[in-house]
Amino acid sequence: MAKVTIDGVTVEVEPGTTILNAARKIGGDLVPPAMCYYSKLKGSGGKCRVCLVEISKGSDANPNPMPKLQASCCTPIADGMEVKNMTSPKVQDMRKGVVEFLLINHPLDCPICDQAGECDLQNLGFNYGVAKTRYQEERRTFDRIDIGDKIQLHMKRCILCYRCTYVADQLTDNRVHGIMNRGDAAEISTYIQNAVTNEMSGNMIDVCPVGALTDKTFRFKSRVWFLKPFDAHRDCPTCAGKTTVWMFGNEIYRVTARKDVYHEVESDANGKPEFICNTCRFETKDVKEWTVEGPRKMEGWSVINQGKYMKQTAKVEIDADPRLMTGRVEDRKAISMNGTNFNEKEAQLSDGK
Ligand code: SF4
Ligand code: FES
Repeated sequence: MAKVTIDGVTVEVEPGTTILNAARKIGGDLVPPAMCYYSKLKGSGGKCRVCLVEISKGSDANPNPMPKLQASCCTPIADGMEVKNMTSPKVQDMRKGVVEFLLINHPLDCPICDQAGECDLQNLGFNYGVAKTRYQEERRTFDRIDIGDKIQLHMKRCILCYRCTYVADQLTDNRVHGIMNRGDAAEISTYIQNAVTNEMSGNMIDVCPVGALTDKTFRFKSRVWFLKPFDAHRDCPTCAGKTTVWMFGNEIYRVTARKDVYHEVESDANGKPEFICNTCRFETKDVKEWTVEGPRKMEGWSVINQGKYMKQTAKVEIDADPRLMTGRVEDRKAISMNGTNFNEKEAQLSDGK
């Protein structure tokens, strides 16, 4: 085992563990954010740069600091390494810069985006973003393309993290989509206008850190914080059938995989990620088809928890003049329109005369 100290907290991990995963072992606020790394997808990471950290001591064998910030998702720890994340002003400054770059082309359409409330970029923007933009050049735009009847692609929101392409590579046969072109012309697209229809393709929606890929069967139906998430399962021949169903009253509005605090799909007892199939996600919205296990708890600060007060509230009595609700008789007389019968007696009663 090797020792690494992150923001003053020391942890022992297997040699070869990345700094990000060592930080996740400690948990809490010192864990660097990640927009492209996804522990359940091989090859992910190294694209977005939001996870950069300062290595103030390389190792016991070579205590020199590293001159440049390093991507914590793909830098392995060394015994005796010391890392600064939240305690490094350089890192905080850099992260502001990365968020500013990510937001250059990302539209600020959170009020109408289905990902709002569970969007990693929205959270980063909240923590590191600035209200004003310094960007004056023309922004990137794309022609809309249809990738099928279940998944909506909004290319303008994409941050090119590549996670969805890893889902396609690692979970589906015959991948039909990928990243076309390079540089600022790079875009997610299907080869020759194909529809993404593979039975596991819906998992792209779950891994997308922004609202670039959303569920067409849930689109614009509700805000996520108005729904109640419940863990539920069913016998499914294709996947483990373990999901979170998002309910409004007795209706299931959407179905997703169960996600952990890093918004990654949870793994089963053997460490196998529980990605779900399209039948569970898109076609099984009848509550009778699910065994509901109980409410799903989101991480403490999630907006999805808002408005779900568990405490019994007492009835509130408002001690106010009844005329506050009905207005003064003289005003009501004045605004009653010609031909409208103004009921003097009723008005006097409500005025308490
Ligand atoms: S569509 Fe989403 S998951 Fe795919 S590359 Fe863009 S941001 Fe990443
Ligand atoms: S999470 Fe490390 S570079 Fe994106």
